[in-house]
Amino acid sequence: MPRPLVVITLIVIAAALLPPAIIAVMRTSRTATPRIHFVQDMDNQGKFRAQHENPRFPDGRAMRPAVEGTIAVGEPRTDSHYYFGRVGEEWAPAFPAQVRVNESLMERGRARFNIYCQPCHGLSGYGDGIVDQLARDLLVNSRLGKGTMWVRPRNLHEELIRSQTVGEIFNTITNGKANMQPYGAQIPVEDRWAIVAWVRALQRSQNAELADVPAELRDSLETINLAEEEASNG
Ligand code: HEC
Repeated sequence: MPRPLVVITLIVIAAALLPPAIIAVMRTSRTATPRIHFVQDMDNQGKFRAQHENPRFPDGRAMRPAVEGTIAVGEPRTDSHYYFGRVGEEWAPAFPAQVRVNESLMERGRARFNIYCQPCHGLSGYGDGIVDQLARDLLVNSRLGKGTMWVRPRNLHEELIRSQTVGEIFNTITNGKANMQPYGAQIPVEDRWAIVAWVRALQRSQNAELADVPAELRDSLETINLAEEEASNG
C-alpha cells in the first residue's frame, strides 16, 4: 500500500474514535454549566416571576391582586361555627347544626383518628402512640437522640383537655397547638368534626361513672370488679 494512503487511513480511524470517546466522557462526568441548547422551544422565555416588578402596572407589581369581590372555590366561609369552631368570641360548646352526631359519624371519626392521631396519641388517646414510643426509645438508646428533646403528645384524658369545648378541640386539629402541627390542610372540615366526636367518645370511655352504664348492665359490671379483686387478692 502506498505510504500516504496508510497515513490517511490511520488518521481517519483515529478521528472516528473521537466522537465515541467524547460521548463516553460526557456520559460519566458532571458539569454545572447548562448543556448546549440548540432548539429553544419555549424553555427560555421572558416572564415575570412571583414577587418581581412589572413596570407596566402603575403599582409596579407583577403579581396582580385578586379583583375585588372575587370568591375562591370553597369559599366564602361565613359560618364560623362550622369552619372555625367559634361562636362569637368563644369556642363553640356544641357541634354545629350541619354535623349530625350519630353512629356513622362516630365510625368515620374513629377511622380518621386512627389514621391521623393514633400514631402520636395512641389508640385510646393516652399519648402513647408508636411515634411517642419510638421517640422515647431513641432518646435513651440511640446516638440520634443525643442533644434533642421530645415533647410528648398530650394524654387526651387529662382534665385540661376533657374540660375543653368541642370547638377548642376542633381548632387544635385545624391549626395545631404549641408543639402539635396543624391538620387543617389534610383533614376536611366534616372529618375534623367526626374526629372531635371520637375524641369525646374516647374521653367518656376512660372516665365513665357507674351512672353512664345502662341500668341493666350495672350488675354484671360489679361482678367483674369483684372477680378481679378476688384474683388480685388471691
Ligand atoms: C406528630 C404527633 C401528633 C399527631 C399526629 C397529633 N398530635 Fe395532638 N399533640 C401532639 C403533641 C406533641 C401535643 C402537645 C403539644 C404541646 O403541649 O406542646 C398535642 C396536643 C394535642 C391536644 C391538646 C391541646 C391543648 O389544648 O393543649 C389535643 C386535643 C390533640 N393534640 C389532639 C389531636 C388530634 C385530634 C389529632 C389527630 C387529628 C392529633 N392531636 C394528632 C402531637 C400530635
